[in-house]
Amino acid sequence: MVLADLDEDPFDEFLPFRLSCDDVFMTLSTPTLETERLRLRPFTDVDAEDLFALQSDAYVLRYWDSPPWTDRTSVARFMARCQQMAEEGSGARVAIERISDKAFVGWCTFNEWNPDFRSASLGYCLHQAAWGRGYATEAARALLQWAFDTLEVNRIQSEVDSRNVASARVLEKLGFELEGTLREDCIVNGDVSDSWVYGLLRRDWAG
Ligand SMILES: CC(C)(COP(=O)(O)OP(=O)(O)OC[C@H]1O[C@@H](n2cnc3c(N)ncnc32)[C@H](O)[C@@H]1OP(=O)(O)O)[C@@H](O)C(=O)NCCC(=O)NCCS
Repeated sequence: MVLADLDEDPFDEFLPFRLSCDDVFMTLSTPTLETERLRLRPFTDVDAEDLFALQSDAYVLRYWDSPPWTDRTSVARFMARCQQMAEEGSGARVAIERISDKAFVGWCTFNEWNPDFRSASLGYCLHQAAWGRGYATEAARALLQWAFDTLEVNRIQSEVDSRNVASARVLEKLGFELEGTLREDCIVNGDVSDSWVYGLLRRDWAG
């Protein structure tokens, strides 16, 4: 995923843009949202083990832009970053829970919210056992709807390793358009890969 180096937050470089609206911090309350099968909610300490299991799974992260976690301190950094995003108003990371059994399915993120450009990014990561049931699309759709309803978002972008066909398909089902290729964008564990850039505009959002 060309979304987030979860240990060293890649979005820090965007901080000057985020704060450029008169340098006023605007908090953004992380939402709780329900779909037919899923509950999207703020992370809690109870999610720590499930989150570590997910982010340390080398197969799940085979197209991610940083290696799987090996150290549990990554969990604390992730949780702190969730809190920071809410406090500075730069986005919302939500845990995805299956309503029927309260199982932790994965997480979804709306981030890099830039009020000047009215743009943001989308990402998601799900446990392998939950793949292929439409959960990623269902969760991302709800988070996007929240973003379009709550903020004056005009554009949402997502970057995908060009080998990650499932993720590209999720974005296409949501209405994203393939806009270009970042050639040899990432080198993870020695593997050089291209990234596809997908974009969704408010005027094209069908919900
Ligand atoms: C990418 C990911 C989120 C998809 O989750 P999911 O819940 O299985 O996604 P959905 O079921 O909503 O949709 C997946 C779509 O991809 C399709 N798909 C899956 N694998 C595919 C493959 N190898 N070739 C073609 N299509 C594929 C599915 O058939 C489905 O499309 P459909 O509804 O038209 O049949 C999940 O695989 C994941 O978490 N991967 C690891 C983390 C990651 O890569 N995150 C995204 C980084 S950009």
